[in-house]
Amino acid sequence: MPRMAKLLLQLQAAADRRHGGGGLGLGLGPAVRRHPLTPRHTPAAAAGRFALFLLFLAAAATTLALALTMHRHGPDDPDAAAAPGASPRGDFAVVINTWKRYALLRRTVAHYAACAGVDAVHVVWSEPRPPPEPLRRGVLNCTRRGNVRFEINDADSLNNRFRPIPGLATDAVFSVDDDLIVPCSTLRFAFNVWQSAPSAMVGFVPRMHWLTDPRGSTEEYRYGSWWSVWWTGTYSIVLSKASFIHRQYLDLYTNKMLPSIRKYVDENRNCEDIAMSFLVANATGVPPIWVQGLIFEIGSSGISSLKGHSLQRSRCLNAFSAMYGHMPLVATTVKAVDSRRSWFW
Ligand SMILES: *[C@@H]1O[C@H](CO)[C@@H](O)[C@H](O)[C@H]1NC(C)=O
Ligand SMILES: *[C@@H]1O[C@H](CO)[C@@H](O)[C@H](O)[C@H]1NC(C)=O
Repeated sequence: MPRMAKLLLQLQAAADRRHGGGGLGLGLGPAVRRHPLTPRHTPAAAAGRFALFLLFLAAAATTLALALTMHRHGPDDPDAAAAPGASPRGDFAVVINTWKRYALLRRTVAHYAACAGVDAVHVVWSEPRPPPEPLRRGVLNCTRRGNVRFEINDADSLNNRFRPIPGLATDAVFSVDDDLIVPCSTLRFAFNVWQSAPSAMVGFVPRMHWLTDPRGSTEEYRYGSWWSVWWTGTYSIVLSKASFIHRQYLDLYTNKMLPSIRKYVDENRNCEDIAMSFLVANATGVPPIWVQGLIFEIGSSGISSLKGHSLQRSRCLNAFSAMYGHMPLVATTVKAVDSRRSWFW
């Protein structure tokens, strides 16, 4: 019974989160595991674990009952079912940013190309040489629908990931890294969230800008990692490595945004995602939307695990807010949850 299996996974993930465990191999994981503030084997924690276990049994029994009832009324797999009112054909494009990881790229393209609702998969290619023929054939072969395309760029720039795409047929763009797999049903749910707020950035990886000295007079900011978001439930950024954005922001980023920001991104080889968050926040005046869902990181660690990363990210926050003349990012604690998949209400 796949539904049960999923429930177990979910509850396990919830328990892990509560107890400072990792998020099942998410990019968020390592930081979570290292958290110093959660004692893991105190009696209170053990009691908590036991209470959770009881809840878990109760929920499992309920689900079983529910599942049996539903089976009598016909199939009801949330994975297969489109949300009410969703259109059956291509609704959004997937734009995959990649860099010299061909095996990952093949897997990722094959995954997204097969998801319902995906109109086309665009691979943003910034390597000096065009895609090698075997890769090209392999990637184009992984779908029968012929909806995969390489977007070739002359220069290697992090800004390439937001270049407007010729022939883009949808308003919604799902921007994702080549090592992130978002399950199709989760992706579909996030798309539905985006449809209800198409000018917002809607994504899975939240971050926060914190005032370094909240009571001081200077406005200096510090980049808040997953940890600080987990601890406070507050965020103001969703990273573009797994986010829906409206196509109009690609044009704004590339053609209208302050050139000094794109220049900064090129020179520092970092923070294109923060730049996009600033752009959207400044244009809308509202926060992004964090969608709850498990996503899977299939590659090894990238830039974000390098030492000094968060210092660099803090510098970007301060540089960009100086260029804007104010801090456009807006914090929130709102999170979008699929009510078909939440069991405590
Ligand atoms: C791609 O698919 C075609 C037709 O199915 C097949 O003949 C060809 O060998 C495949 N190429 C690769 C690289 O897998
Ligand atoms: C921020 O938004 C305002 C209002 O829409 C706009 O006039 C301004 O140019 C934007 N700032 C930047 C730096 O893009």
